[in-house]
Amino acid sequence: MASTHPSVQPVAADRMPALLRAMPKAELHMHIEGSLEPELMFALAKRNHVPLRFPSEQALRDAYVFNNLQEFLDIYHEGTMVLKTEQDFYDMTCAYLARAQADNVLHTEIFFDTQTHTGHGLSAEVVINGLYRACADAPAKFGMTASLILCFLRHLSEEEAFECLEQALPLRDKIVGIGLASSEVGHPPEKFAKVYARAKQLGFRLVAHAGEEAPPAYIWSALDVLKVERIDHGVQAIHDAALMQRLAKDRIPLTVCPLSNLKLRVFPTLAQHNIGAMLDAGIMATVNSDDPAYFGGYINENFTQTFAALGLTAQHAYTLARNSFDASFIDASLRAKYLERLDAAFETFR
Ligand code: ADE
Ligand code: ZN
Repeated sequence: MASTHPSVQPVAADRMPALLRAMPKAELHMHIEGSLEPELMFALAKRNHVPLRFPSEQALRDAYVFNNLQEFLDIYHEGTMVLKTEQDFYDMTCAYLARAQADNVLHTEIFFDTQTHTGHGLSAEVVINGLYRACADAPAKFGMTASLILCFLRHLSEEEAFECLEQALPLRDKIVGIGLASSEVGHPPEKFAKVYARAKQLGFRLVAHAGEEAPPAYIWSALDVLKVERIDHGVQAIHDAALMQRLAKDRIPLTVCPLSNLKLRVFPTLAQHNIGAMLDAGIMATVNSDDPAYFGGYINENFTQTFAALGLTAQHAYTLARNSFDASFIDASLRAKYLERLDAAFETFR
């Protein structure tokens, strides 16, 4: 494994959950619209006079059973209809940041899809200003840092992605990077080659979902055509030995989301998840929550359930947390401060 540290001592299995919860971490793969809990969804529906087809919060939760990514995306999209004002985007983001703080997340890079909301008649400014105000308040309100990554919707055209990029340009300074989300199979990364080249010219950091459900070829083209710095999910890489070598050699981070993979049936059980094998192969994996309101847990739940299912160790925990800071887009001085806090937390578990 890449990151070892002298302060990492073996920790008994019954103390692992406490270590995983206390461990400082960064979250690099979370769609803010996927953090909208049924309680807040119902409150916003009432505030904005939007009808919901579910009679109760529990009935909505009960509908969260998915056979694949598309089934989830359909219900996720329906949930976003309650978001109407800048304050709604602010409130949703603050609710997530409070949960992340409780899980000892020191830094988060939040995905959002402008096109979902402009498709409902909202302006890009309403969306981005609401999200950004919460991120700007994060240090004072939640003792953490937060930045924004705009995801293009890959089931739409590249021309529409260009329009989305144009609309975001007046708010350029509020966005750190560009990503690619939504229905993967049939919408390969190379469909967005030109708009990614433009985003790179404009100085955005680049990431893309690849290899969640689609084959390793999608990961190769995200790297070689889109020139991304991180791969979101990437779990299908395991089927391509040359790709595994490339990811390890170039230290390309994978933002893995175990509970998402379980809920969307990418793996039949967590015990069959490949994140342990990825780490042992020297891949720079991280743990993330993807759409926590829909997939049964925030980041610490992802850590504790995955570690229990796979029997991962304190050394794996340290590597994953360290990877999360190393793979983030924060500057070197903030990274050094967060890594100091990580090492201090492991010292207390000696
Ligand atoms: N949008 C929200 N969650 C997603 C996921 N897991 N994959 C692709 N697009 C998404
Ligand atoms: Zn995702």
